Amino acid sequence: MSERVIIFDTTLRDGEQSPGATMSHQEKLQLAKQLEKLGVDIIEAGFPASSEGDREGVKRIAKELRNARVVGLARAVAEDIETVWRSVEKARNPGIHTFIATSDLHLKHKLRMSQDEVLERTGKAVSLARSLSDWVEFSCEDATRSNPDFLCRVVQTAVDGGAGTINVPDTVGYSYPEEMAGLIRLLREKVKGIEDVVISVHCHNDLGLAVANSLAALKAGARQVECTVNGIGERAGNAALEEIVMLLKTRKEAFAFHTGIVTEQIFHTSRMVTSVTGIPVQPNKAIVGANAFAHESGIHQDGVIKERTTYEIIDPASLGIAKSTLVLGKHSGRNAFRERVKDLGYDLTQIEINRTFDRFKNLADRKKTVFDEDIEAIVAEEVLRASEKYKLVSVTIMSGSDVVPTATVRMEIDGKECHGAELGNGPVDATYNTILKLTGRRPKLLRFSISSITGGTDALGEATIRLEEKGNLAMGKGAHEDILVASAMAMVNALNRLDYLSNMLKPSVRL
Ligand code: KIV
Ligand code: ZN
Repeated sequence: MSERVIIFDTTLRDGEQSPGATMSHQEKLQLAKQLEKLGVDIIEAGFPASSEGDREGVKRIAKELRNARVVGLARAVAEDIETVWRSVEKARNPGIHTFIATSDLHLKHKLRMSQDEVLERTGKAVSLARSLSDWVEFSCEDATRSNPDFLCRVVQTAVDGGAGTINVPDTVGYSYPEEMAGLIRLLREKVKGIEDVVISVHCHNDLGLAVANSLAALKAGARQVECTVNGIGERAGNAALEEIVMLLKTRKEAFAFHTGIVTEQIFHTSRMVTSVTGIPVQPNKAIVGANAFAHESGIHQDGVIKERTTYEIIDPASLGIAKSTLVLGKHSGRNAFRERVKDLGYDLTQIEINRTFDRFKNLADRKKTVFDEDIEAIVAEEVLRASEKYKLVSVTIMSGSDVVPTATVRMEIDGKECHGAELGNGPVDATYNTILKLTGRRPKLLRFSISSITGGTDALGEATIRLEEKGNLAMGKGAHEDILVASAMAMVNALNRLDYLSNMLKPSVRL
């Protein structure tokens, strides 16, 4: 009989810890709603003690979601735990996730605590969390590099204190499948009462084994997997939700596990994560990469035409990839537009639909076919980033083989319009010089790239940049038929993220 695996999504917490991946409240809320539609069981909405911005973001998600459990992360200290509870208590299904490191390395250099102190903290943290919430998860950070006997003692303390879920993180992605399985078996053998709690795993991908380690843990008795969409997360990221889910679905005869994930929502969710974090998916990424279903060689193409399953183990339609046959263009009405926006996973109010529809009409007048990517870009610009500090109004560039490139930029800064013009070593350089002069910011440009995201000569160009300012990293993306406008949009997007980081997310605590 197939057993149910609980999907604990941490895209909004561990995923947001990816360098440069800051999301605004509005972006987080849209994504949380999409994660609920995707069918995840638990959403880790943030780390409330880290900043005022995170607390507010978690509170809004807790208030709005209807089905998924909404939890927040807390160190094993009373203040963090109480802060999480205040942030999630209004949720229909709230929860507290508390953790402490258990490896000798972390005890000695990070916590500067003895094993006895860690045991005492564990007991107190779990009891306090349980006095507030019926649902409590306890994690042993760096579990896979911890002394196994000590790990068992810590887990025993957490189970005795009433934690209903015990999470075993491979915090630095150090483990391998047999070892991970052995650890889960050890806990099941040594910890009294563990049969009454859910064992969870949380694997990082530093050695590329996050999904394999998660699967090994499931086979050894874990029943919850912590993962992120597109595998984003701290350093090399976390186990990718879409890979775990599709592995269990595609090879159900081998593993006899199932999840509650609506797989048809996977592709849109992946695109939304890329849109709101600015982190692109590598083309050869399993399940959601642009090439995951592209067949280049003639033999493969011939095989797929004759019978899809010759070279495809997953039907792209089961991920929601099949493109709609309804082409949107200048004759499309508001209803068709509203339906497409909904299909793409966005939950917009009537006012927001009206605003985005006007932009869509404007684009459709200039472009024969409006692609899903265009619509995502419009929603991002008009809704998700509408309340941001910096807005690009227009950009005009003079460039060519015989002139010094000059850019004239009009912007709104805090609602006030301003404009300026600067020269540069190229059109992008001139544009960026002007934007930086107008905003008065001095970030370091770490990366700049342009790619085409739709086909044809009127293809949408997507610019991605990465900035650093005062230790904060921010990604920025912009999509437009004109690659110079896309570049300007990417810069403005990244500056808004930097602004958000330096104001809203002034960190009080960092993990
Ligand atoms: O990687 C890790 O150990 C974590 C814990 C806080 C669960 O993210
Ligand atoms: Zn982690």
